Amino acid sequence: MKETTEAQRMEKIVSLCKRRGFIFQSSEIYGGLNGLWDYGPLGVELKRNLKSYWWRVMVHERDDVVGMDGSILMNRAVWKASGHEDTFTDPMVDCRSCKARLRADQIVEKKGAKQCPVCGGKDLTEPRSFNLMFKTYVGATEDESSVTYLRPETAQAIFVQFKNVLDVSRKKLSFGIAQIGKAFRNEINPRNFTFRSREFEQMELEYFCRAEEGIKLLEYWKEERLKFYENIGIARDKLHVLTVPDEERAFYSKGTYDIEYDFPFGRQELEGVAYRTDYDLSQHQKASGKSLEYFDEETKQKFIPHVVEPSAGVDRTVLALICEAYSEDQAPDEKGKMETRIVLRFHPRIAPIKCGVFPLLKNNEQLVAKAKQIVDLLRPHMFVFYDESGAIGRRYRRQDEIGTPFGITVDFETLGEKDSALCDTVTLRERDSMKQERVAIKDLADILISRIS
Ligand code: GAP
Repeated sequence: MKETTEAQRMEKIVSLCKRRGFIFQSSEIYGGLNGLWDYGPLGVELKRNLKSYWWRVMVHERDDVVGMDGSILMNRAVWKASGHEDTFTDPMVDCRSCKARLRADQIVEKKGAKQCPVCGGKDLTEPRSFNLMFKTYVGATEDESSVTYLRPETAQAIFVQFKNVLDVSRKKLSFGIAQIGKAFRNEINPRNFTFRSREFEQMELEYFCRAEEGIKLLEYWKEERLKFYENIGIARDKLHVLTVPDEERAFYSKGTYDIEYDFPFGRQELEGVAYRTDYDLSQHQKASGKSLEYFDEETKQKFIPHVVEPSAGVDRTVLALICEAYSEDQAPDEKGKMETRIVLRFHPRIAPIKCGVFPLLKNNEQLVAKAKQIVDLLRPHMFVFYDESGAIGRRYRRQDEIGTPFGITVDFETLGEKDSALCDTVTLRERDSMKQERVAIKDLADILISRIS
């Protein structure tokens, strides 16, 4: 029973995403391309707000982290040294009956026999390794000497620029380098909407430290990251920490946590927090022949720092935000009859549009002029949306459905027609409670800024 409800909920979310312009299938008019998605006018705002908040918390509000923005294509030697060229693989199985390509861990077992999850066929190939990196060529010749890959993670750019960033920022251990950017993986089986995509964005921090601090910092970053998700409106009881067991951890990692979220399609990873030891820098030092050591001025010792890495997915977090925000409740329509209201209860901090501005009537010049003045007043501070069409209740509903936390209505009281004491005041409506308060126009910017930041 629960399963159908959750599947239906997911269907409604996917349909809302398309209907209201959060997420579209990539190349849709040509039939799409599996595992690739485009963000529409509202999706792009949500994504930007998420990335800006991550950057604010992880870089701007700290003394010990600086940012960088590396290129997507890098020298192939990077991927050899990091181990990706040889080992960034998933085991793949083919179903000989329906020709489905499957990840080995998706094969179902019934009565001791392995079956294809698509057609139920039992004629399956043995698993074989499939490298997830997209191969490409740099320059005019397409031969082995020009091969490289679209990066499958942003982290390697940070490791190979470690020395340059250290030199220019003059940071002392412990310190971090943060980056947000695209990553590409030729996933065998993209699924669950944007959850497993072939092109996605990551928000990664490589936090360099001394070996003896690694385990403590792993705990520290796990807690910091949990706080982050709560601060963008994800309920703590829907977040889970999985301690990745020894046999599933990368051999060089001394500890890894997965932060998981209860999506409608099950509990799945949002972010990995991994203590990667000195593996990455050591590999690049060995392969490049360039020193990536840190010189400790106090002890006069040189050593390769260790690293703790919180690595989050932008697209997965956006999907979690939408799933978390989606809700339906009952609210009165224009005539007082109860109807179902779809509301995206986004935290104001990440909501795509912060405030709707509505003149009560579109054919009253004074109301329209006042509403437009308010738009001009607020625009330097936040993304606002002006809407004059349709009944006011309908306009509220349209904003509720896309998660706009505040609505401002300019009415005849604003013009001082009923009570001069109310001149230049407006109603400020809050999306979730639907409560309205009367606020002076001059106070609007301060009130809203304090609620959205
Ligand atoms: N540098 C470490 C690293 O890349 P990962 O666990 O492979 O670790 C980190 O990826 C995060 O990137 C994941 O927790 C997830 O949020 C996101 N991610 C990975 N593969 C993805 C995919 N195919 N689609 C969407 N997001 C993905």
